[in-house]
Amino acid sequence: MDLYEYQARDMFEKHGVPVLAGIVATTPDEAQAAAEKIGGVVVVKAQVKVGGRGKAGGVKVAKTPAEAREYAEAILGMDIKGHTVKKVMIAQGADIAEEFYFSVLLDRANRNYLAMCSVEGGMEIEVLAVERPEALARVAVDPTVGIDQAKADEIVAAANFPAEKAPKIAAVILKLWDVFKNEGATLVEVNPLVATGAGDIVALDGKVSLDDNDSEVRHPEHEELVDQDTEDPLEAKAKAAGLNYVKLDGQVGIIGNGAGLVMSTLDVVAYAGENHGNVKPANFLDIGGGASAEVMANGLDVILNDEQVKSVFVNVFGGITACDAVATGIVKALEILGDKASKPIVVRLDGNNVEEGRQILADANHPLVTMSLTMDEGADKAAELANA
Ligand SMILES: Nc1ncnc2c1ncn2[C@@H]1O[C@H](COP(=O)(O)OP(=O)(O)OP(=O)(O)O)[C@@H](O)[C@H]1O
Ligand SMILES: [Mg+2]
Repeated sequence: MDLYEYQARDMFEKHGVPVLAGIVATTPDEAQAAAEKIGGVVVVKAQVKVGGRGKAGGVKVAKTPAEAREYAEAILGMDIKGHTVKKVMIAQGADIAEEFYFSVLLDRANRNYLAMCSVEGGMEIEVLAVERPEALARVAVDPTVGIDQAKADEIVAAANFPAEKAPKIAAVILKLWDVFKNEGATLVEVNPLVATGAGDIVALDGKVSLDDNDSEVRHPEHEELVDQDTEDPLEAKAKAAGLNYVKLDGQVGIIGNGAGLVMSTLDVVAYAGENHGNVKPANFLDIGGGASAEVMANGLDVILNDEQVKSVFVNVFGGITACDAVATGIVKALEILGDKASKPIVVRLDGNNVEEGRQILADANHPLVTMSLTMDEGADKAAELANA
């Protein structure tokens, strides 16, 4: 889960990272009240989970509360790269002397963490990384050690901070590592990290991505950070039912057991779709080992409620849960769903007790269900039905 800037700011504050006052507002009135409360110059900042807000006109300096109100009025409702601005943060204005860059992230390719740091922050870091890579220090961070004082010193040295600033920057980096480690993040990025006229170091912008698997186990409090507004309703429904579901953009709904089988089913359906109007998989859904009727019904319910879905491909390999149990599950699921089941369903069963399973489906003779003997044949049939 990616956090909004104001959520990252609050998280930074909790871990002792220096930040300025910031109050979130959803109306111009609230924005004005927040600016009055903070006092002095404030910055009105669009809260969207996409970069480049400043360039898009979503970051404005306001000298008075009345001006903050005006800017909030203009920014709320604005579209930034396809994201509608529903909240702004009123941030205390900083007296910026210099802008730096720091991030630490999960480096999957190297099975490691990576810290990046530069004395040239503020601008688009992607541009800096391409045009002058030498200006962006990249320092590997051993996950078993993390960022300790020695590593923080190494990072600021690699970024060429002058001696008088280095210790202060290193101290902030240690705090940012606390955020990364203790909140279970995969990314903590500060751009810009600034030095003020008075010589203080402050995080003026923050991007945090949390590892959902870590949050689920160690951080029940992260649930409050979920934005109900923008969460996909189907994904929310699947989550509530405990299903392993990811919405995709295609027309063929997919249900399978075991992540590996489901992944290959996506590939096979995408491939088959090339012969049928380029239809594509509509989702990933792994119903796991114990495919009870209820789990199957929940899965079908989520998929059939996806308006883009035109057909469903159920691809199950019976193992510990044998095919007859899965077939019974499908039949019962269709009973539970009744009229809500309205799209053709192709079922391919194989493995343990396959004959019994196929017999159960044949006996039920449900008008929406077609059986296929192989995965390729099933994928082709489902793609064809989606394109019909
Ligand atoms: N509280 C503040 N006080 C003064 N200036 C600020 C403040 N916050 C941001 N700025 C200025 O605005 C610039 C852009 O702000 P910020 O980094 O938050 O947005 P952005 O970089 O455009 O957005 P994103 O990080 O989403 O791409 C900063 O580089 C800084 O110069
Ligand atoms: Mg920024």
